[in-house]
Amino acid sequence: MEHYYLCPKCRSKTLLPKCNICGYEIPYINSIYRFCNDVSINLEGDKQYVGYDNIGDDFDPAVACCDEKNDERSGVYAACADVIAKKYGTEISVLDLGAGLGAASIPLAKNGIYTIAADISAVMLSTAAKRANGRYDNLILAEMNAYDIMLPDESIDVVVEIDMLHLVNEPEPVVKEISRVLKPGGKLIRFASLPLALSKEETEQNEYFNKVLSDIRDHYFHYLESHHYPIVAFHVDYQTVLLQYFKSPYNQLAQGFEEKINEKMRIKTHRMKTGAYSFLQRTPKELIDAAWKDTDGYAREKYGDDYAEIQDFSRCGAVLDVYTVKK
Ligand SMILES: C[S@@+](CC[C@H](N)C(=O)[O-])C[C@H]1O[C@@H](n2cnc3c(N)ncnc32)[C@H](O)[C@@H]1O
Ligand SMILES: [Zn+2]
Repeated sequence: MEHYYLCPKCRSKTLLPKCNICGYEIPYINSIYRFCNDVSINLEGDKQYVGYDNIGDDFDPAVACCDEKNDERSGVYAACADVIAKKYGTEISVLDLGAGLGAASIPLAKNGIYTIAADISAVMLSTAAKRANGRYDNLILAEMNAYDIMLPDESIDVVVEIDMLHLVNEPEPVVKEISRVLKPGGKLIRFASLPLALSKEETEQNEYFNKVLSDIRDHYFHYLESHHYPIVAFHVDYQTVLLQYFKSPYNQLAQGFEEKINEKMRIKTHRMKTGAYSFLQRTPKELIDAAWKDTDGYAREKYGDDYAEIQDFSRCGAVLDVYTVKK
């Protein structure tokens, strides 16, 4: 499928890779089309955002709970992608906004859907590229800012947005952008997981896990707090904004899908180790390293060397919140 984009130089409608109006060639580096400058964090000006850019050089997608081989969490995303393919067919174009590691984009592309995985963070996208490993010609990785989506008006059938809107301080221009690029009748789809009952034994184990984890987390945050670093968290009500541009969602279940997720402590502690919590993105790397070193020592002493292997469980089904654009 051929798809139009907007040229970052002259903003004309263009196919990839070169603008047919001004001749600008959209930089293509490490399998990523660069539609904007290589800046993951912008906390200046009115339109602020926190891209994930500090996930760690040693980042291993296997600990990000959405790796293909180590299928610990891709299940929900894959089930939702299958529902989209079944319901809307595979001749559609999907924009996954704030695609991160491609947890949704890769299963969508796997279904044969033309998928644009857009993210402000080239670091996240390069991990997505590693995971996709050149297998999908229909997967376009694009460094784009959600405030200024480099796609023509009414050119997309479905926008997928999962856990991205809370990372912008002004959701309205972003939601407006989403509505602009959607065709009339187009859908905004957000994936969620529906908690299902656990056994008594699993519930007890979870309680223990949660206690250990929150103790470790408290230790970590106290360390950072005592070093006076600024916390960045946007408190915005994007639900209200969504309903200005979209009809209230209906919830679509992925029928017959049930998954037990085994999340190991290491998945969560990895985020502390690398600072991949959105609101820690501004913290100096040396401080993250020092806080983690101190926290790791504390946890080992208190819970033993194998604290990182403690497991928690959840059993869930996959749900899609489907919004229809008002236009
Ligand atoms: C919590 S992650 C979610 C990733 C993915 N949707 C998932 O569910 O696995 C949020 C992503 O949004 C991206 N992001 C934040 N602000 C953005 C912006 N203004 N434009 C595009 N992407 C942005 C971050 O870089 C990050 O990769
Ligand atoms: Zn141009």
